[in-house]
Amino acid sequence: MGVQETIDEAGPGRAKFREMKQGTADDWAIIGGEYRAFAKGLPDRVLDHLRLLDGDFGGFPVDRLEHSLQTATRAHRDGRDEQYVVMALLHDIGDTLGSYNHPEVAASIIKPFVSEEVHWICQNHGAFQGYYYFHFLGMDQNARDKFTGHPHYEACRLFCEKYDQAAFDPDYDSEPLEFFEPMVRRVMARPLASAYAKALEQE
Ligand SMILES: [Fe+2]
Ligand SMILES: [Fe+2]
Repeated sequence: MGVQETIDEAGPGRAKFREMKQGTADDWAIIGGEYRAFAKGLPDRVLDHLRLLDGDFGGFPVDRLEHSLQTATRAHRDGRDEQYVVMALLHDIGDTLGSYNHPEVAASIIKPFVSEEVHWICQNHGAFQGYYYFHFLGMDQNARDKFTGHPHYEACRLFCEKYDQAAFDPDYDSEPLEFFEPMVRRVMARPLASAYAKALEQE
C-alpha cells in the first residue's frame, strides 16, 4: 500500500497528516470543528464521572456522591453563588483518578470556569480539611498553617468548616444531582480563561 493511498483512506472527516508538522489549514478546520463539539460535552462527562462516586463509602458514614451533594447543598443554602456551589459539588471528583492528590484534579477541571479564589479553595482544601482528621492518622493537624497569611486562607478555612467537614450526615436532606446539573452546565458553558478560548470564539 502506497503512502498516498493510505492518506486518502483517512476520509473527509479526518485530518490527513501523519506528523503534526505536515498539518494544513484544512486539517485544522476539521479538528477545530470536532473540538468545539467535544468541548460542549464537558458538563456531561463531568457529571458522568461524578456519578462514579455513588456507593463509594470508603468507610465514611455517607458515600462520596452524597458527601459531594451535601457539601454543595450546604453551600447553596448558605447563599453561595453558582461558581462556588459547582466547586463544592466537584471538589472530591478526583478521588477516583487522583487518589493521592484529589484536590488538584478537581481544581484543574474547574479552573477555566471559576474565579481565582474559588479555584484556590478547591486546590488547597485537602490541607485545610486535614485540620479535622490528620492528627488521627499521625499527620500534622496544622498542615494548613503553611498558608497562613495567604489572601484566600480564610475562604478555604470557611469552606471546610461550614460545608466540607460538615457534609457526612446521613440524615441531611441533600438536593439530588439533578438539582445541580443546570448549574454545572451554566458554569461550564464557556471558559473564562483558557489557552483554547480563542479557538472556541470561532464558532
Ligand atoms: Fe477532599
Ligand atoms: Fe470533601
